[in-house]
Amino acid sequence: MEFPLEKVRAAFPALNVEGRNNTPLVYFDNPAGTQVPVAVANAMSDAILYGNANLGGAFDTSKLAGDIYHHAHRVMAEFLGSPCQGEGIVIAQSMTAITYNFSRALARNWQADDEIIITSSDHDGNVSPWLQAAKDSGVRVRTLRFREDDWQLHPDDLKALLSPKTRLVALNHANNMTGSINNIAPLITLARQAGAQTYIDAVQYAPHRLVDFAALDCDYLVCSSYKFFGPHLGILVGKPERLAALEAYKVRPAPNFGSGKFEHGTPQIELLAGLIACVEYFADLGRACQNSEETLSRRAAIACAFAAQTVHENALARTLISGLQQIKGITIHGITADNRLSERVPTISITATRHSSQDIAEQLAARGISCWSGHNYALETATQLGLDLEDGVVRLGMAHYNTLAEVETVLKQLNEIL
Ligand SMILES: Cc1ncc(COP(=O)(O)O)c(C=O)c1O
Repeated sequence: MEFPLEKVRAAFPALNVEGRNNTPLVYFDNPAGTQVPVAVANAMSDAILYGNANLGGAFDTSKLAGDIYHHAHRVMAEFLGSPCQGEGIVIAQSMTAITYNFSRALARNWQADDEIIITSSDHDGNVSPWLQAAKDSGVRVRTLRFREDDWQLHPDDLKALLSPKTRLVALNHANNMTGSINNIAPLITLARQAGAQTYIDAVQYAPHRLVDFAALDCDYLVCSSYKFFGPHLGILVGKPERLAALEAYKVRPAPNFGSGKFEHGTPQIELLAGLIACVEYFADLGRACQNSEETLSRRAAIACAFAAQTVHENALARTLISGLQQIKGITIHGITADNRLSERVPTISITATRHSSQDIAEQLAARGISCWSGHNYALETATQLGLDLEDGVVRLGMAHYNTLAEVETVLKQLNEIL
């Protein structure tokens, strides 16, 4: 299964825009948001130019908007591996907005003295909403820490925190600073056995690996499409029976069932059109990667795209990590072993002994390389690692459109800066 890198890069106009040094910009800021293929932008443009209406009317543009709305929910269910056919999908402004909404609704069923569990591997979007909901309900919060010797969350550590009082376990699928992919399936099983619900943040996992909601058997899982070449939206997939049982915070005329119960106000139809195009982008990529002539379902094609891109992304990560290891004074905060690349996404965070992270990021920017410095909202991770919270790390985050030549450029520039 060959990854068609040239074809991929041709789909993204931003990748060919020249930066300050008359060379194309190098995007290593992907964990904060990716570039967008032409097809996604065109779909958004068409929807707002020709299908701009609210839902539920008898006229044509309203019917078109309704089709976009329902189709976006259905294709997201397929993308995330849920059999719910759109029923368990909630689409809103962002993962953070969705998590605030669901933390309120879930907390309605908590009693003072109950407990919830968060992790130190999580972005604050999967921490603060729970801390605040817990405070409002008098619920105790316990923290599952990742182990620093292998950068992973461990079932034994969760076992020690679970109790009959645990109502919810909020888990991280891939860490936005260390890049670790947490093996969450056994953690979800333990939480379920203890009678707790599970809420998974897959924001950094979904751009790099195929999400399989049904196989995980969690209650809720969230991601954000602007991290995987789509529009600025957050998406939740939940077990339909959980959504049905939950009392939503909503206005009275809003539906009492299905997705609409949790989606506040008028849907962003043009962004939903972009979301459909983004899922089709993955399916088309998968068909371009497949070895056989077989006609693949959308889900099978998407799986094919992820399988091919993982091989490419692992090659990028391997080259970047080994190049960084040759530069004196750099610490990599995450998994580095070549035989453990399956346990990480290609997000590699570093600090350097004699330069601040901000200085490095600014110097890279001046050389046409985009990346972020700071804690990147991974407050719990940065605190556990004892990092300077102000300065944090330099986060070099790759996506499937990055090239080995770009990795070499970044390494060359870092060598010069340091
Ligand atoms: C792991 C993780 N979770 C949550 C978020 C928040 O996502 P959103 O911007 O959609 O609220 C981010 C954003 O960077 C993230 O990396």
